Amino acid sequence: MSKMEFSEEFDFENRIVDVSEIPEDAADGDNPLRPKTLDDYIGQDKVKENLKVFIEAAKIRGESLDHVLLYGPPGLGKTTLAGIIANELGVSVRITSGPAIEKPGDLAALLTNLNQGDVLFIDEIHRLSRAVEEILYPSMEDFAIDIITGKGQMAASYHLPLPKFTLVGATTRAGQLTAPLRDRFGVVLRLELYSPEELAQIVTRSAGILGIKIVHDGALEIALRSRGTPRIANRLLKRVRDFAQVISDGIITAESAKTALDRLEIDELGLDRNDRRMLEAIIRFYNGGPVGVETLAAAIGEEAVTIEDVYEPYLLQIGFLSRTPRGRCITAEACRHLGYDFPKGISNAMPVQPNLFNE
Ligand code: ADE
Repeated sequence: MSKMEFSEEFDFENRIVDVSEIPEDAADGDNPLRPKTLDDYIGQDKVKENLKVFIEAAKIRGESLDHVLLYGPPGLGKTTLAGIIANELGVSVRITSGPAIEKPGDLAALLTNLNQGDVLFIDEIHRLSRAVEEILYPSMEDFAIDIITGKGQMAASYHLPLPKFTLVGATTRAGQLTAPLRDRFGVVLRLELYSPEELAQIVTRSAGILGIKIVHDGALEIALRSRGTPRIANRLLKRVRDFAQVISDGIITAESAKTALDRLEIDELGLDRNDRRMLEAIIRFYNGGPVGVETLAAAIGEEAVTIEDVYEPYLLQIGFLSRTPRGRCITAEACRHLGYDFPKGISNAMPVQPNLFNE
């Protein structure tokens, strides 16, 4: 099979284990599954404990909370946390994203409409334009912006004081933030992929809210296949409920969850066809690696950033991929899982044997 034919078998559009947000994950107040307080928020214990202290301290001093940067893979609850921070502080949250703020004037409009202490949440903050970033700096530091109106002799500059607000920025790529922006966040918190036990608790909580009957082993079965990500766990819960209602008595047990997830082609580790085929591409076309992420992206018809942000974190976490200076390598565990022999010549440091797997 050629690389072209191989890449045509990918179905990125309808991925149930896709971590990107879809309308049913709604960021606004419509999603009943989003916890509203730190006590309701499961997992991310270190982040939670630290945030509790910072929020409490800000409240005791009667000040706004220092600006907070949240970073980590998508789907782990950054927007949820921004909402919780606002709720715990007793203020309002405005939600926007880097690409949505096109011009400095857009940011000025957002900032001047905030009330004292409010939270402004900017998702994908690494995608802000340079011009917008330039006015964000003084806003964050001095709580003021300078607006210039008119041109030439008619130009006038206004110094506009802003309410003291808290910026919560979120990014999947902390490395892509400019140093001056990164330095203006007093609190920097890294979100980690969730453990299966934490995800099982989240699934059980969500099932309770949605009125779905589930036993712990059923929740754990969903959790194990959710790639460390609550957004996927909640999505799988809804699909498994459909199967449980139609093919059994509506109760999600380990058995009915297994059947449903097998039917959805999501394996015991949460890999779907696309993950498996990406790993297979590394084995079959690049002899197990190392292969550069750009090369791999071209081979499977995906963007390199998607591979880095969406596929890799989980595959690295479960030890199926290793990152080396010369590119990505498959691991023995991944080969075993996929039913391939581990390529003999593969080594992180040594050149690989050519054409070991090519047909
Ligand atoms: N729903 C989504 N993420 C959650 C979390 N971390 N805790 C509880 N419920 C959630």
